[in-house]
Amino acid sequence: MTKETTQQVNFRVFRFNADEDYLPYYQNYNMEVTSKEVILDILNKIRDQDSSFSYSRNCSLSSCEDCAVKINGRPTLACKESVKAMIELFGSELTIEPLSKKRAIRDMIIDKSDFLEKYDSIKPYNISNGNEYLKESNEMQELSEIDSCVTCGVCYYSCPVVEVNEDFLGPAAFVKAYYFETGVRDETHRQRIEDLHREKEGLWDCVKCYECAEVCPSGVDPIGKMTKLHNMLYKEGDATSSVATSHIANIKDSIGKHGILAQLGSLSNLSATMKMYKKGKTAKPWSVPASGNLDEIQKLIESSSTSKF
Ligand code: SF4
Ligand code: SF4
Ligand code: FES
Repeated sequence: MTKETTQQVNFRVFRFNADEDYLPYYQNYNMEVTSKEVILDILNKIRDQDSSFSYSRNCSLSSCEDCAVKINGRPTLACKESVKAMIELFGSELTIEPLSKKRAIRDMIIDKSDFLEKYDSIKPYNISNGNEYLKESNEMQELSEIDSCVTCGVCYYSCPVVEVNEDFLGPAAFVKAYYFETGVRDETHRQRIEDLHREKEGLWDCVKCYECAEVCPSGVDPIGKMTKLHNMLYKEGDATSSVATSHIANIKDSIGKHGILAQLGSLSNLSATMKMYKKGKTAKPWSVPASGNLDEIQKLIESSSTSKF
């Protein structure tokens, strides 16, 4: 049995009450913590010291979604995250913030209406005429992985595209859309897949940073499901070509040939390209040096390509 240890930690905690405060502020709580505690224990202790401190919790079993917060900028479920692991990662000064500071209502509690409205917009329910369908066991395995999504919004509030594009539906909605697009029972297929293709809201605005897969506390891998939706959109003929897709095709072509990005650009931005070349920011397009590990790069491109790219 591992011996319980203790340590002094300073928690810098985000405070804001939308009814009273003009601006948020941070409050320090210095306390002794044990190696067995999780972040939710710390929130409980802060609440014991200061009854005005607000946060959400329900199941304490990583299954209700209520207790998601950010520790030093890293989103997590408070009832699951060990304090010891956080100290090992960040040291003895830990900052606790809500999932989204700009949507804070009171301390850790945020207004998730934007996330829930977008989630609802993809019609996250089965629409069927009641017929019975059989699924293969490998298909069921993938669907049960998606079933473990607790709609916590951790992926949504970590997505950099959501930060800059308020129309972008976000990873959790796409995961749920994939669930129904891949399920044979659902009969709204055409409408839903067309909606996923909409400019600015749709799948094509994802920048494939993998942050959603990194932070998901339930191991759902949203970007993996979104890549499958990309493929579906091509197979169904909804996605053909756009400025964004042509750009991606050029990038893939350049990296596949040379192992580095060496685009000349279009005639319309030739002068900018020449300026970049003069400053040493791009290679001569007619004599691009190949990367030393080109074979490995080409294998990576092969393994991460969709049916179109
Ligand atoms: S991979 Fe796409 S959806 Fe996921 S966090 Fe990055 S931009 Fe957002
Ligand atoms: S995919 Fe993961 S992070 Fe996103 S809402 Fe579901 S459980 Fe939360
Ligand atoms: S309290 Fe339910 S997931 Fe943490």
